[in-house]
Amino acid sequence: MKEVHVPVLLNETIEGLNLKKDSFVIDATTDGGGHAAEILKKLGPEGELAGIDADEDMIRLLEERFADEKRLKLFHLNFSDLEKVTKSSSAGGRRPDAILFDLGLSSLQLSASGRGFSFKAEGGLEMTFDRKRRPNAFDVVNTASREELEDIIREYGEDRFWRKIASGIIRARQQRKIQTAKELEEIISKIVRRKGRISPATKTFQALRIYVNEELENISKGLEEAWKILSSGGRIAVISYHSLEDRIVKKFFKKLAAERAGILIFKKPQAPTRAEMLENPRSRSAKLRIIEKK
Ligand SMILES: C[S@@+](CC[C@H](N)C(=O)[O-])C[C@H]1O[C@@H](n2cnc3c(N)ncnc32)[C@H](O)[C@@H]1O
Repeated sequence: MKEVHVPVLLNETIEGLNLKKDSFVIDATTDGGGHAAEILKKLGPEGELAGIDADEDMIRLLEERFADEKRLKLFHLNFSDLEKVTKSSSAGGRRPDAILFDLGLSSLQLSASGRGFSFKAEGGLEMTFDRKRRPNAFDVVNTASREELEDIIREYGEDRFWRKIASGIIRARQQRKIQTAKELEEIISKIVRRKGRISPATKTFQALRIYVNEELENISKGLEEAWKILSSGGRIAVISYHSLEDRIVKKFFKKLAAERAGILIFKKPQAPTRAEMLENPRSRSAKLRIIEKK
């Protein structure tokens, strides 16, 4: 059966975006369209939604799912280039009233074979949202220097075993190239002892994914662009899944609020209810922050 991605904090996000029938909305991380479908329900015939994703496979899936949806325009784009959407002829120079970022990756991508996001799924080591992007995880694992590997695992995985893991990867690749996500997981599992159910490779996988996609840099750029193009009275909602992401969003929003350029919609970020966490364990670490432009 095909994996389904359950949208996280769905009601809180849609309510928080404060949509009107004629709003122009950008979903900067459309994926399979979980949030997008709800946004479309809120819009009238005069509303518009620009759906962006860096993953071309997702754009193809969306083209099929929303084949009859005239209010949706799709863009295969990195959200660090968000301004391109308003410059495109289809937006007609219109400024968006609401922009959503639901960061990271989806269950659909996790389970996709050949991508290497998860060590549970078969396949090679890519980990890039845009499959043409280089270097990918295979390149990094097999060619990065010891110092580079150590920095990546420490900085983006926040794994205290960074030195041991980098050494283990280097030892293994001297024998032969590390080809698959499973191989990489096995190498790390031999070096670091497993505690509980979580694989000791989890943080290294997160680190590689963040690095090859330049995720943190792109979040900063995406937020800057979003703020620039947003209409006055418009809102930006961001759902983040780990502290490295949330720190950037928090700092960005806080600065705008301090400058009195924006208003924070909640004092504290919204977290999923217990019921949502039980139903969708992926939502457990989610945090939703929303800001309105004055
Ligand atoms: C958590 S999923 C979004 C799920 C979606 N909200 C839903 O409910 O179906 C994140 C999506 O963002 C995309 N993405 C991640 N970084 C991106 C970037 N810098 N630019 C554009 N898309 C990005 C990923 O490819 C993925 O499809």
